[in-house]
Amino acid sequence: MPTRYHRLDRFLSQALQVSRSGLRPVLAAGRVQVNGVPVRDRQQRIGPFDRVELDGELLQSEAPRYLMVNKPAGVVSATSDDRHTTVMDLLPASQREGLHLAGRLDFNSTGLVLLTNDGAWSRQLSQPENQVRKHYRVTVEQPLTEDYVAAFSEGMWFEFEGIKTRPATIRILGTYEADVWLCEGRYHQIKRMFGRFDNKVLTLHRLAIGHLVMDDSLKPGEWRELSSLELSSIFPEGKGKHSLCGQGSNSDQ
Ligand code: URA
Repeated sequence: MPTRYHRLDRFLSQALQVSRSGLRPVLAAGRVQVNGVPVRDRQQRIGPFDRVELDGELLQSEAPRYLMVNKPAGVVSATSDDRHTTVMDLLPASQREGLHLAGRLDFNSTGLVLLTNDGAWSRQLSQPENQVRKHYRVTVEQPLTEDYVAAFSEGMWFEFEGIKTRPATIRILGTYEADVWLCEGRYHQIKRMFGRFDNKVLTLHRLAIGHLVMDDSLKPGEWRELSSLELSSIFPEGKGKHSLCGQGSNSDQ
């Protein structure tokens, strides 16, 4: 999702339908305010969430939005689809403007999906160097054994992509149930990892992204805005520093 940053003169020229040279006296007179401060530098970068005013008249003021959705099974992680209900369809039409998905779940997977209009934030979330760990609860067809623990943490060779998966953590909760933590999101990754043991994944539910935990009062298909506390909990130690990846399985329970 591109982040729309423009030079101030380009932004004003488009918003006001005035040539850039025609804007010079307007800027020089301090008539343009960005986030409440008069700006005279035509080269200043304007981001999507900057508030821009001319003579007190609002030209742009868009607030960043961050939502969590409890995705039900049978819903596509997309903004539009010809055949199936999408995550976006779960929101009323009036709430959809400008939103995109920050990460996906498979059609039959359930649980935490994030929506935002902040492209920089969703990119940060997906960048491997930020290593935001995702927590899943999985039920499978065949009994689980301790062999899975070493195999998941060693990583598995994925022939199609030509990569070895990053160390993943599995904690066996019962004969057919486990928690899995991933530091990446390869195509059908969890299903393929259990597939190495010829073990079919029956249900797959995402419980958390970083320290942001699915609100279990949200029924399947329901959504709500993130609180500012939740928002800051995704990158708890700051961008790219001490991520949750590489820690033991007990670190965020
Ligand atoms: N791994 C999968 O196989 N599917 C998902 O939806 C998420 C992780």
